[in-house]
Amino acid sequence: MKIIKKPYKLTARIKAIKKNGKTVGFVPTMGSLHEGHISLIKKARKENEIVVLSIFVNPTQFGPKEDYKKYPRNFSRDKAIAKKAGVDIVFAPSAENMYPEGVSTCVEETNLSKILEGAIRPGHFKGVTTVVLKLFNIVQPDISYFGQKDYQQAVIIKKMVKDLNLDTNIKVLPTVREKDSLALSSRNIYLNQEERKSATILCHSLTSAKKLIENGLTNTEEVKKKIRTMIKKEKISGIDYIEIRELETLQPVKKITGKVVILLAVRIGKVRLLDNMIIK
Ligand code: PAF
Repeated sequence: MKIIKKPYKLTARIKAIKKNGKTVGFVPTMGSLHEGHISLIKKARKENEIVVLSIFVNPTQFGPKEDYKKYPRNFSRDKAIAKKAGVDIVFAPSAENMYPEGVSTCVEETNLSKILEGAIRPGHFKGVTTVVLKLFNIVQPDISYFGQKDYQQAVIIKKMVKDLNLDTNIKVLPTVREKDSLALSSRNIYLNQEERKSATILCHSLTSAKKLIENGLTNTEEVKKKIRTMIKKEKISGIDYIEIRELETLQPVKKITGKVVILLAVRIGKVRLLDNMIIK
């Protein structure tokens, strides 16, 4: 497994790989790898000749009061996990390499990025789309892999790829969960024992809502009310949103007649947890 830190070095290597007609699968991450990332790497391994994993805690997607400095970083552990999972190249640039002095260009999706997470974390998705576009330009992947856990992020990236005619396929893989159903996230380590127990309410309330819908409840306000009541029984610090939206446009749905996604953002202790479920 090769470790490359400079963007121009990776671009040169990718050029050589592509010259030999090999396909490149790409898994972008901020490190602190867990089973969710491993499932993306394994899928990329199956479907491509070369697998590139990026590890870069992207400063531009964190707000001024967010946890950029504190975000968990463990490069040696991540390297070992990446190697075991079958990664060929780890791209681990520094912030200075990705954003040299004087950089003044960014890319912004201007519609979907303003709602839900975007309304609570202004500028977050601008940082995400800018870094992902830069990474796509450096890695030139045939297929890029994202997790459904960050549902809105995946929808926005697919929209950017379509809007800007980017030449990469996006695959979104199911959320990987702990045995007790908590969605894996690098930030779960911030939860104390009691909070960790309460956190399972996200998935449990989604599963209950799914059952209610499957049994014929179609009024979204009623479904949302039931979810809220369930979540509020736990010791939480607050609910940022409980939303039922159309899959691609993320527009609100009044009556459930087709596929929808239920999206949750709940604060437990000092941790914001996201989860979602697609209802077919
Ligand atoms: O999902 C993440 O880990 C990040 O938002 C991403 C896509 C790697 C961009 O920094």
